[in-house]
Amino acid sequence: MSLLLADSLVRLELLHNPCRYGHPVSGPTDYSVSSYGDMITCEPRMPAYAEALRQAIVPGCTVIDIGAGTGIFSLLACRYGAGKVTAIEPADPVLLLQETAIANGCAERISIDQGLSTAHLPEQKADVIVSDLRGSLPLFENHIATIVDARERLLAPGGTLIPMRDTLHAALANNPDNYKFCEEPWLRNRYGLDLRAGHRYAVNNWSRVHLQPGQLLSTSAELAELDYRTIRDPNMSGKVVLQAERDGTAHGLLLWFDAELAPGIGFSNAPDQPSLVYGQSFFPFEQPLTLSKGDRVEATIKANLVDGSYIWSWTSQLFSGAADKPELTMRQSSFLSQVLSPEKLARRADSHIPQPTSAHAVDQLCLALIDGQHSLGEIADILLQRFPERFSQRTAALNHIAGLAARY
Ligand SMILES: C[S@@+](CC[C@H](N)C(=O)[O-])C[C@H]1O[C@@H](n2cnc3c(N)ncnc32)[C@H](O)[C@@H]1O
Repeated sequence: MSLLLADSLVRLELLHNPCRYGHPVSGPTDYSVSSYGDMITCEPRMPAYAEALRQAIVPGCTVIDIGAGTGIFSLLACRYGAGKVTAIEPADPVLLLQETAIANGCAERISIDQGLSTAHLPEQKADVIVSDLRGSLPLFENHIATIVDARERLLAPGGTLIPMRDTLHAALANNPDNYKFCEEPWLRNRYGLDLRAGHRYAVNNWSRVHLQPGQLLSTSAELAELDYRTIRDPNMSGKVVLQAERDGTAHGLLLWFDAELAPGIGFSNAPDQPSLVYGQSFFPFEQPLTLSKGDRVEATIKANLVDGSYIWSWTSQLFSGAADKPELTMRQSSFLSQVLSPEKLARRADSHIPQPTSAHAVDQLCLALIDGQHSLGEIADILLQRFPERFSQRTAALNHIAGLAARY
C-alpha cells in the first residue's frame, strides 16, 4: 500500500472511530522557572491581573489560584488581604512558593495542592478563583473544561472568576517570514531534491508568532467570545468575513484575543498592542493569496478538543471583488499536519492483541516487586541479575524501576 493511501485510511478511520483507539495520556505543558519568570514580567498582563485581584479581594476572603506556577497570584492575593489561599499546580516549580510565602510573611495563609484542580477537594469554596491557563490562544489544552469544573465545584455562589471573558479576533496576515517554513525546504531547497510530500503537512501546521500591525491586510473581525461565567462547551466554531484593505499577499489568518479579567480591566495581544508572552497564532493558507483591495476571504474556523489538545480546522474561501462565488476554497486542519503511522495506530486499536516481549517481562517483574517490601535499589539489583542483556549497568536498572514506580 502506498504511504499516501495508508495515511488517508488512518485519518478516515480516526475521524470516524476515534473511540476505538487508546490515546497517550498527557498532562499540562511543562514550563521552566524562567518561563514562569517571563509571565511575571509580562506587561500589561501582570499589572492587569494584579489590579483585578486587588479589586476582587475583600479582607479575609478565600482564594483559589488554579495553575499557580511559582505562585505569583497566591502571593498577591495575600498582599491584598485574602485570609486563605490555595495554590493548585501539578508542576514542581510550585514548591518555590513554600520559600516565597515565608519570605513574604504569608506562609500561614497559603496552602499548596500539588496536583490538578479537577482532582482538588475543597475544604471551603472560594470567593475568588484566579487562573491563566491559556496558551497562545485561550482554547488550549483543558483550559475550558478546567474552568467549567472550577466554577461548578470550587467557586462559592456569587464568587468572582478572573479572567471573566476572552474574545477571539481574526484578520488576514502578510507574513512571508513565517510562511517560508511552509515552502522551505518542501517546495524549494538548495539540494534540488523533490520534497513536495512534506508540503501538505507543513501548510496545516499553525504557529505562534509576533506580528506588527502593518502586516495586517484587512481589518479584524470577532471570531468568538468565551465568557467564563457561563461557558460549557470546550469546542468553538466561528465564521469571519475579511476584506482586503489594500493590495498585497495574504499568507494566512492571524488570531489573537482580548482578555477581560474584570469589568474595565484587561489586555490584548493584538498586533498593535505591546507584545505579550502569548504571541498570536498564525494559520497559514495552502497557498499565498495575491489580493487586490476589496477582495475578501470568508473563513470558518473550528477548534475541537480531543484528549486534552485542540484540533484546529480552517476553511478559507477567496472571493474576487464583489463576486458571490468563491474563486478558491482551501480546507485545512492541524489534524493534517501530523504524519500518522498505521502500524503504531494499529497497536492502539481495541481489537489489537498485544504479544508478550522481553520488555514486558522486565516490567512484569518490576511491578511484582513493588510490594511494599523492596527498595528501588534492591529491585535494581534483581533486574541486573535477571536481565543482564537488558541492563549492563546498575544505574540503568535503577532509572528504569524509579521511572516505572513514579508513574503510580
Ligand atoms: C500559563 S501557566 C500560569 C502560571 C501563573 N499562574 C501565571 O499566570 O503567571 C499555567 C499553569 O497552569 C497549570 N495547569 C494547567 N491545568 C491545570 C489544572 N487543571 N490544575 C492545576 N494547574 C493546572 C500548568 O501546569 C501551568 O503551570
